Amino acid sequence: MARSIYLDNAATTPVAGEVAVVVQEAMLGTFGNPSSPHTMGLEAERLVGEAREILARALGSKNHEVYFTSGGTEADNLAIRGVLAAQVRKGRHVVASAVEHAAVLETLRHLARMELCEYTLVPPDGKGIVAPEAVARALRADTVLVSVMLVNNEVGTVQPIPEIVRRVKEQDPRVVCHTDAVQALGNVPCRVEELGVDLLSMSGHKLGGPKGVGSLFCREGTRLISQITGGGQEEGLRSGTENVPGIAGFGRAVALAMENMEARTAKLRQLQRHLLSRLETIPDSHIHGDPLSNAPHIINVGFPGVRGEVLVHALASEGVYVSTGSACSSKKAIHSHVLETMGVPRAVLEGSIRISLGADNTLEEMNIVAELIGQAVMELRRYQRQ
Ligand SMILES: Cc1ncc(COP(=O)(O)O)c(C=O)c1O
Repeated sequence: MARSIYLDNAATTPVAGEVAVVVQEAMLGTFGNPSSPHTMGLEAERLVGEAREILARALGSKNHEVYFTSGGTEADNLAIRGVLAAQVRKGRHVVASAVEHAAVLETLRHLARMELCEYTLVPPDGKGIVAPEAVARALRADTVLVSVMLVNNEVGTVQPIPEIVRRVKEQDPRVVCHTDAVQALGNVPCRVEELGVDLLSMSGHKLGGPKGVGSLFCREGTRLISQITGGGQEEGLRSGTENVPGIAGFGRAVALAMENMEARTAKLRQLQRHLLSRLETIPDSHIHGDPLSNAPHIINVGFPGVRGEVLVHALASEGVYVSTGSACSSKKAIHSHVLETMGVPRAVLEGSIRISLGADNTLEEMNIVAELIGQAVMELRRYQRQ
């Protein structure tokens, strides 16, 4: 059988078999509309309610603080646009980190172009970490929202969210704090009391759930204006008939991730450490971020003298699937804004790839991948020099 080693789990994860069964059962058996008053509607409503409870348990929140969306992108949009719309009296300034996902950065750029917001981006240090003091310094009297992600999708850096929120709230308790936890859920703890955030975005397909479903945690008392209006589903915050199969599958994926979190993250950390130790032996390799405190599933490594996208294709031809950066930008030949803002030199940045692990990967696969990367890098460097 042809080799297939999937190492692009930060782009999307395979759906767990158990999750697929739940989705299928919801599609075939529980197809009522959760808003319908009859038994079939109530059955569908029950599935949505169960999933809401599972997410709330994972976050340590109340059930009614969990709202379902069509994914992480919509959750980020709802957080940003919803706060700006609710806080017009206070102002329209947003502080975000410069390493956010496009779902945050492009939304801010778009709103700024329409003169609906102003924003300040806080750069990280060389390891990709955003300093709480720098975030606090960027606050203005008209700041309404701070948005800093929990785990960066390109390098895996875990941001000091509790400290950022503490500094922001000390300075101005009215500022709403949002974190994009799309890469964090299932990989690092996401308890909202410990994080202190008011809003937190999640996505189903990054932890073994279906695509096209996500959620926004919105702390009780945080004012948000809905961005999709209609039938008033999700307590009026997000109209539209619920994606019942997707939501049920998302719930099951979160339940599975929470059940196995300790064992899964320990296994990921072991794979990550092993692969890092092998990658470090490749001449002139540059590991980005701070591997020891990174999320356990992401490695970002640069090889000057090689083009990242060429390396990705060379590995794919050997049945090994990695990426150059975030899934949204890796098909376009643009450079990683994350590595750029971390101050990574051009030659290293252009030769960087992201390897994102899943708990089903094995140590044996790590050995094969390290070997193949080493060979490909040598060959491509030789070819480049000719
Ligand atoms: C950090 C982060 N935020 C948001 C998203 C968008 O999530 P979705 O694909 O569910 O819209 C992603 C997906 O790549 C992500 O990694």
